[in-house]
Amino acid sequence: MIKPVLISAFCVAAFLCGLSSAQVNHPRALTATPNFGRCKTPHGMPGSCIILQNCKKLYKLLLIKPISDVNKLYLSQSQCGYWNGKILICCPIHNTTPSIQPKIDLKPIQSSKAIKKAILLKHSPTESINMRKVPLPGQCGQMTTSRIYGGNATKIDEYPWMALIGYKKQLGQSGYHCGGSLINARYVVTASHCVNGRALPSDWKISTVRLGEWDTTTNPDCEIDSTGAKDCAPPHIDVPVELAIPHPKYDPLSINQINDIALLRLKETVIFTDFVRPICLPLNSNLHGASFDDTILDVAGWGKTESQTNSNIKLKAELDVVPLKDCRNVYRPQGILLKDTQMCAGGKRGVDSCRGDSGGPLIGLGTTSKGHTYFFLIGIVSFGPATCGMEGWPGVYTRVSNFVDWIQATIRT
Ligand code: ARG
Repeated sequence: MIKPVLISAFCVAAFLCGLSSAQVNHPRALTATPNFGRCKTPHGMPGSCIILQNCKKLYKLLLIKPISDVNKLYLSQSQCGYWNGKILICCPIHNTTPSIQPKIDLKPIQSSKAIKKAILLKHSPTESINMRKVPLPGQCGQMTTSRIYGGNATKIDEYPWMALIGYKKQLGQSGYHCGGSLINARYVVTASHCVNGRALPSDWKISTVRLGEWDTTTNPDCEIDSTGAKDCAPPHIDVPVELAIPHPKYDPLSINQINDIALLRLKETVIFTDFVRPICLPLNSNLHGASFDDTILDVAGWGKTESQTNSNIKLKAELDVVPLKDCRNVYRPQGILLKDTQMCAGGKRGVDSCRGDSGGPLIGLGTTSKGHTYFFLIGIVSFGPATCGMEGWPGVYTRVSNFVDWIQATIRT
């Protein structure tokens, strides 16, 4: 979050402003044929999430040149992750070892009708309900603190779903360069460009997610409350990342950075406290078509500030949602064509997300039919002008409501 000092060159695309490159890792030791757990194939059949090259049947599809659109679609729908620069694929369970005869024949999907059905099934509302693996309002989007207006620093227990994404670099170095949001006890949502973006240095590997953090310079963190008493949080936790899953349709080289969303599966489930709690997703179907135009949302993170360095303390800012039509007019002359799975917020001088905030949440306040309020994830920090906080230049965010089905279909229990 930043106030600009200089108006300098515009950062033409997200990958110039932020992170990137096809590199993801997790701390699991390398074995001959690592298996990343169970998954479902696009046909809904049981599968194992393994490296593409180890799944004979699907790998064969790649060798038939030219690859038909049908096979391309099937392969992209089968992707279940990304590991050490390698694509992970949901391999039909009877096909993971070459000695076993595959029982699933891929031929039927060569009719486009079957594909349409597979896509429809994926998005059918009944399946969304059955597959709900994220909490509902009441168990998510709550915080103990009351909101503060006008200030930039958050309270110690504000936005307890905020995560910092930690990278391992060369020579044993490490650093936190993106934000994210905890959505259940095992998964964090972030931006895909934080996982496989083009600007991500190739020697950076995602290694951990930090939760329960407020001030990065102290551990435990303590705040002096309004009565003058010292209020301390438990120490933050660094949870290893088991698997980083970029959206299969995210293209690191694209100028408009559509589908800039990724899931991080944690190696262990986390215990919720006042300082570690999930945010709700926009599950309610009436939130799906909503533009959120002209509403005020919060963005939070530890990204760059007006002093040009990252913030030690979790910061927040209030941003106006800018209608997509207006935002398109701002970005179009730069050759960036925004899609309706994206949204814009900000554009006021001095108030913006900034480098390092990527992957972090754009947060809305919802109300249940019983009148209970809860916070939910509306957007994910994607890209914006290189000089943050420029008047008339809103930041671009991934519109989460468009990805709820993907999130639910991708999460494993
Ligand atoms: N891609 C950026 C990051 O790495 C996010 C930049 C957001 N910029 C902005 N002006 N809103 O953190």
